[in-house]
Amino acid sequence: MLRRLHPDQPESFAFTSENLAWAEAQMTKYPKGRQASAIIALLWRAQEQEGWLTRPAIEHVAEMLDMAYMRALEVATFYFMFQLAPVGSVAHIQICGTTSCMICGAEDLIAVCKDKIARNAHELSADGKFSWEEVECLGACANAPMAQIGKDYYEDLTTESFAALLDRMAAGEVPAPGPQNGRFASEPKAGLSSLDVDGDKMPSNASVGLATDIGDTLKRIDGTEVPLLAPWNQPADV
Ligand code: FES
Repeated sequence: MLRRLHPDQPESFAFTSENLAWAEAQMTKYPKGRQASAIIALLWRAQEQEGWLTRPAIEHVAEMLDMAYMRALEVATFYFMFQLAPVGSVAHIQICGTTSCMICGAEDLIAVCKDKIARNAHELSADGKFSWEEVECLGACANAPMAQIGKDYYEDLTTESFAALLDRMAAGEVPAPGPQNGRFASEPKAGLSSLDVDGDKMPSNASVGLATDIGDTLKRIDGTEVPLLAPWNQPADV
């Protein structure tokens, strides 16, 4: 698919004061003269602020990082994570359509998108709240089929659970991400089966436990910042 800038662009772009402070802090992570390395982070923040990545936003980021516009445009048009056209005001749904997800029902999830959102990918729903697209493997193959919404992964989906998820989002809820079939991560659905060296059952989320120490935050689609792993630790009805 050709990734081109949308023909209708706003006049200008500016970070909010909060996002500007965040962006400037990101730039300090890199040695003097290497600030261009912050481009992905800054473009992503601009997209989070506006919903999609506009040409003025790309150019603004290029100026902040002392880059030629073309270099920033190359990055923005290369990565599918950057939306180059307006997306749904509530959520843009990215359905993984690669092998594991395809075998496990991705086409059924896409049928739900066509039915509840819009016939074609990147088209806004009638109320402007949702849009969708099919993307390549998102690295959650053990929890297929799945969808990425904002930064959150919703996994182990069925047509019923996915349709219900969209209904809850349309009603203003932000459902807890992660597996939607009762699993915590990608452990066996029927219970743990691996033993550690002492003969005890392995904790199912050892890697998740380590990751809690990162201390980073995650911006949810409703704009709130939560600890990186908080969604997994919240009650299922959050
Ligand atoms: S195939 Fe869907 S996440 Fe990998």
